[in-house]
Amino acid sequence: MDELSEQIVYLNGQYSPLCETKISVLDRGFLFGDGVYEVIPVYQGHIFHFERHFIRLERNLNAIQLPAPFNRHQLKSIIQQLITGQPQESVYLQVTRGIARRDHGFPGNIQPSVFVMASSVAQKPTHEIACITLNDDRWQHCDIKTIALLPNVLLRQQAHDQDADEAILIRDGLITEGAASNVFIVQNETIITAPKGPFILPGVTRDIIIGLAARAGFQVSQRQFTEQELCAANEVWISSSTKEVVPVTRLNKQPVSGGKPGEFWHKMNTLFQAHKQELTQQSDD
Ligand code: PDD
Repeated sequence: MDELSEQIVYLNGQYSPLCETKISVLDRGFLFGDGVYEVIPVYQGHIFHFERHFIRLERNLNAIQLPAPFNRHQLKSIIQQLITGQPQESVYLQVTRGIARRDHGFPGNIQPSVFVMASSVAQKPTHEIACITLNDDRWQHCDIKTIALLPNVLLRQQAHDQDADEAILIRDGLITEGAASNVFIVQNETIITAPKGPFILPGVTRDIIIGLAARAGFQVSQRQFTEQELCAANEVWISSSTKEVVPVTRLNKQPVSGGKPGEFWHKMNTLFQAHKQELTQQSDD
């Protein structure tokens, strides 16, 4: 166990050190991956866009027919107990269907299991990343933020095995998203990202980027785009709650935007950092 083992986490109504927190092997999250999760960034103790994450969580719980075991105030108060106010933290929370004898169908009358932990995130200077493209062989419900992430894990590992940081996924010739991120390209003056639908996770960071870019007067298009468009793009970015918006400077071992973060990315990142700053200065109710 590392030094994190002393950190306090929440499991089913109890706050306890991570190293002492245990769950039954009959939990359906363990046996079936039967649950959903969220990852929420926290900056200086301010939960970043809590409401957007809560709405997505509710939608996901609904998609797997699991009644929400808390309301937004209860969940926010659990998170507030766990965060410490460091410059950057990341809250991981998962809700599984609960503990029951192994049988595929939903068991009657069990309590969902709720696990929440907050981890500190080392602040790194902007990093540029390398990506490879891979075939998107996941299921037809990639809009559900399920804890059953084996396909994503295998795709990410293939990227690592080829000295890349992330896999950009292609389904029927069209770019969907990354193994754990959304993907943007800049083509001429337009920022393009795949539309919402069953083949991408509707990223909270993606929505924030689209809103900030549109407000700043950039052309933004939510449309399908091809692998050819990806490879010919002026810039490629990925986004997620843990990585924010990151420039891809190598794609399939070839340089993108001359192997440096592009001009649009610099503008977008400035807008994103200013937005974070503005929100962290507001009082959190
Ligand atoms: N993943 N697409 C996939 C498949 C993801 O797993 C993620 C995030 C995103 C970006 O969503 P958001 O902007 O809401 O983080 C898109 C998280 C960070 C994870 O699994 O750790």
